[in-house]
Amino acid sequence: MIRGLLFDLDGVIVDTAKYHFIAWQRMAFALGIHFGHEENEQLKGISRVESLERILAWGKVSLTPEEKQHWMDQKNTWYLECISQMGPEEILPGVANFLGEARAQGLQIALGSASKNAVPILERIGLLSAFDAIVDGTVVTASKPNPEVFLEGARRLGLSPDACCVFEDAEAGVEAALAGGMRCIGIGHPDVLGRAHRVIQSFNEIPDPTSALLAL
Ligand code: BG6
Ligand code: MG
Repeated sequence: MIRGLLFDLDGVIVDTAKYHFIAWQRMAFALGIHFGHEENEQLKGISRVESLERILAWGKVSLTPEEKQHWMDQKNTWYLECISQMGPEEILPGVANFLGEARAQGLQIALGSASKNAVPILERIGLLSAFDAIVDGTVVTASKPNPEVFLEGARRLGLSPDACCVFEDAEAGVEAALAGGMRCIGIGHPDVLGRAHRVIQSFNEIPDPTSALLAL
């Protein structure tokens, strides 16, 4: 019986992948490294520091710890510029309704995101109060596919992992949910998220949370 829902943020609640892409590409260009949509896809769900390490490895570029910190800060400044105009209109289709229904049906709701920008983003789109617990990149250190972020979310909801369902758009996030012993609904393409228990294109496909969970 599922009693708690754990939501990834980027790509599930809001489409911020396009903004991460703009900011990482700008950095990669400055460092003479190729960075396209294929590379961006591989960074979904991956922490900021791990993302930087992967980009540097792809470009065979080595930096000192100070230079790495500089570029992470610079990337985040560009990212924050991109999201500064964001508002509720950027909430992905069906999400606000689904969150409202889930709460009305008595389900517990937590965020499980690698992002250190999660709280300001939720504030900006007006969804902070929709969550009973927030676990983000300021709380956990291990990057998905490590299940830490979701295990901590379940713990904060006072639920065991098998009473939780994770919503994820990234392959690494689906792996994290499964590694944590949770059910998982993928948001996106079955080619990427095929290991999830179910894959949907948008929350509009599952307007009623309880019946969607019963079918898992
Ligand atoms: C994840 C994104 O949610 O958060 C990644 O999918 C991102 O692309 C990661 O790198 C960390 O985000 P931030 O906002 O802390 O740089
Ligand atoms: Mg995501």
